[in-house]
Amino acid sequence: ERLWLVVPAAGQGRRMGADRPKQYLPLAGRPVLAHTLARLHGAFPTARLALCLDADDRWFDPAWVPFAHWQRIDGGRERMESVRNALAAIDAAADDLVMVHDVARPCVTVADLQALHLAAGAHPDGALLAMPVADTMKREGGERQSVTTEPRDGLWHALTPQGFRFALLEHALSQAAARGIAVTDDASAVEALGGAPKLVSARRDNLKITHPDDLALAAAILALQAGDGKE
Ligand code: CTP
Ligand code: MG
Repeated sequence: ERLWLVVPAAGQGRRMGADRPKQYLPLAGRPVLAHTLARLHGAFPTARLALCLDADDRWFDPAWVPFAHWQRIDGGRERMESVRNALAAIDAAADDLVMVHDVARPCVTVADLQALHLAAGAHPDGALLAMPVADTMKREGGERQSVTTEPRDGLWHALTPQGFRFALLEHALSQAAARGIAVTDDASAVEALGGAPKLVSARRDNLKITHPDDLALAAAILALQAGDGKE
C-alpha cells in the first residue's frame, strides 16, 4: 500500500494578522511551510504529497518541496474542503494510508510522525496525535465568568497528523459535508460515523502556529529539538 500525505496550506492566517499567510512567514531562516515539508520528508521520503494551496497564492515556491512525487491542489473555503479537494485529486487505492498534517505545525518530530503512521496502519478507524489536557477546564456562563469546572479526565487536545485508510477518510468527510456537519479536524468526521480513532500520545512541543507570539515559541522549540537531535 502507498502512503499519501495531505497538507492543507490554503489558509489565510487571519489570527496571525501578518502581511502574508502564516505558512510563508520566516522561521529560523526559512518559511514555516519549508520546515513542515522537511519534517514530513525526513520521516517518509518516498511518500506522495498533496499540497493544498489557495488558487490565488502569490507566495509559494516549489523549491520548498523536497518530495519527488507531489501535486498542487486548489484549497477550498474551509480546511475540510481543502482536504476533500486533495482526496478527490489523488489516485489512491481504498486501502492506502492518508496522513493529513497542518502546514502550521512545523515542530512535529520524525518520531511522532512514525508513531502516528504505525497506529494509523494498525487501527481500522485510524489514529491522531493528541495530548492529555493538563489545565483545569472552565465553562463560561456568559459575561466572561466561570460557572463550572469540567472534568478533565479523558480530555485530549487533538493535534495533527491524523491518519486513516483512504476509503474511510473520503467517506467520512463526504458524509460530514452532505449532513452539513462542520468538522475542524479529520478524526471528528470519522467519529460522526461512529468510528473511534486511536489517540496517540504526542510530544507537547507540536505547536500550531496561530498567533504572532507563536513564531518565537516555534523558533525556540526548533532550537531545543536541534540540541536533542530530534530534528
Ligand atoms: N487551511 C486550508 N484551507 C482553508 C483553511 C485552512 O488548507 N480554507 C489550512 C491552514 O493553511 C492550516 C490548517 O488548515 O494549515 C489549519 O487552519 P488554521 O490553523 O486555522 O490556519 P488559517 O485558517 O490559515 O488561520 P486563521 O484561522 O487564523 O485564518
Ligand atoms: Mg482557520
